[in-house]
Amino acid sequence: MTRTPARPFRSREWFAAPGRSDMAALYLERFMNYGITPDELRGGKPIIGIAQSGSDIAPCNRIHLETVKRAREGILAAGGVPMEFPLHPIFENCRRPTAALDRNLAYLGLVEILNGYPIDAVILTTGCDKTTPSSLMAASTVDIPAIVLSGGPMLDGWHEGELVGSGTVIWRSRRKMAAGEIDEEEFLQRAMESAPSSGHCNTMGTASTMNSIAEGLGMSLPGCAMIPAPYRERGQMAYETGKRIVEMAYEDLRPSKILSRASFLNAIKLLTAIGGSTNAQPHLVAMARHAGIEITPDDWRAGYDLPLVVNMQPAGEFLSERFHRAGGIPAVLTEMLANGALDGNVLTCTGKTLAENITAAQVRDRAVILPWDAPLKEKAGFLVLSGNLFDMAIMKTSVISDDFRARYLSRPGAEGVFEGRAIVFDGSDDYHHRINDPALEIDADCILVIRGSGPIGWPGSAEVVNMQPPDHLIQQGIMSLPTLGDGRQSGTSDSPSILNASPESAVGGGLSWLRTGDTIRIDLNAGSCDALVEQAEIARRKTEPAPPIPESNTPWEELYREKTGQLGEGGVLDFALKYRRTSEKAPRH
Ligand code: FES
Ligand code: MG
Repeated sequence: MTRTPARPFRSREWFAAPGRSDMAALYLERFMNYGITPDELRGGKPIIGIAQSGSDIAPCNRIHLETVKRAREGILAAGGVPMEFPLHPIFENCRRPTAALDRNLAYLGLVEILNGYPIDAVILTTGCDKTTPSSLMAASTVDIPAIVLSGGPMLDGWHEGELVGSGTVIWRSRRKMAAGEIDEEEFLQRAMESAPSSGHCNTMGTASTMNSIAEGLGMSLPGCAMIPAPYRERGQMAYETGKRIVEMAYEDLRPSKILSRASFLNAIKLLTAIGGSTNAQPHLVAMARHAGIEITPDDWRAGYDLPLVVNMQPAGEFLSERFHRAGGIPAVLTEMLANGALDGNVLTCTGKTLAENITAAQVRDRAVILPWDAPLKEKAGFLVLSGNLFDMAIMKTSVISDDFRARYLSRPGAEGVFEGRAIVFDGSDDYHHRINDPALEIDADCILVIRGSGPIGWPGSAEVVNMQPPDHLIQQGIMSLPTLGDGRQSGTSDSPSILNASPESAVGGGLSWLRTGDTIRIDLNAGSCDALVEQAEIARRKTEPAPPIPESNTPWEELYREKTGQLGEGGVLDFALKYRRTSEKAPRH
């Protein structure tokens, strides 16, 4: 039985363009050398790209060296031709000066591959934080049928009978070490035990968050995000994903038909329900903008009032393996749907609506997925702040601890309002050199500020805003001070920082004129954050030399600085936004 694709496969332009057998011969001959036959390439089957994100230097995604084998079998079984190629590696933890440089670089590379080669549809293999947004941004730019195959999180980590989650264990152990409770050996042991298998971070860090969002956007098969990497279901999911992308190629089911304003608002709400990473803010805005959808600072209100129901670290207790067994993202979506917090009518990669995808889903463990009306936290979304220091910054309210709330946000008659003395650091080296300097006289009423850590300043924007208090305060039991910065923080951090401040100091944002000793006033009710400094004084300070930032060290750092926008707008390559649906025009021969 021959099937007719809804749109002629673009690979025909390479291999079977009428009257151009000379061209086809040129294109065909080199694919022959790995045993592919002319019939496979010319017989009218869709060619399915597999963007391989795993490698030895991308260990969070290394499981995909295995998953793609099953994905290929699915593609072949459904009558497609698999063609695997590498994605520029992105490894969050190890990449200096920051993996944030790689999101836009991998995006550019993937656009060129998808656009310039005979690929009809693509499997996007995702895992580590930025692999998901960079792949989806590129899929939108090119706009060929695309589906996300997550690699899945690691198994739950245990240390002496206690759950230890990746990333979160680092921030918590660092405080324990500063307090003198554990030594270096114990620190290392806890960190290693938090990573017991292949897979990406097992906390609700940025990786789990972005894979969950991909599923919530309808860009992966239901249940894909949370299956642990080593589980047998992961291989089965890869096989089903391979089969499904072939059908999507025939249906011409492209990202532009799936991604909509409604689906992104769903994602903002899902983010609150799962207690997702603050890095989701720039990534979600970037994915939306490349899909031609504007998400404004006001749109985050859609998620602000909703409850946190997933009890996972860093906001809660458990890790991803148990969340998967509790029902994972489909179960959370059913809770949201039943409580009017989800638009279930949006189309997904299955060809069905989001609501149709989850009819059989259910919550199987109420310790992990709490009832909507008895959540872990009420009003747990991102709070968007603005003021004279920045136009937009966010705060993840779900990680505000009771202790922090009691100390800073519960003054009688002024709940949610805090004033503190700014201690300003120029980048993380400056912070590390001076945080324990007695001359700064840091006490419990200080706000730690870091600048030079945004997209242009760092460059790339670094996860440095969750600054730990000086040792003498930790030893007094003060585990966190209010912090503020133009960089990001790890999604695995439990710090209630004010971060992603845009515009950043390096492009003349308000943090550039802030001085140590200034008073900063934060009002969470009004969503404001201001330095109490007179206009004339601000004007005077603006004439002084700008805070120092390091020089670029590579060609890409220089180009990135020239072309990248601010975190509030997704930190995208702004000029790239004008390129959309490039697959509608075949590239010239
Ligand atoms: Fe790669 Fe966390 S470091 S997923
Ligand atoms: Mg990170």
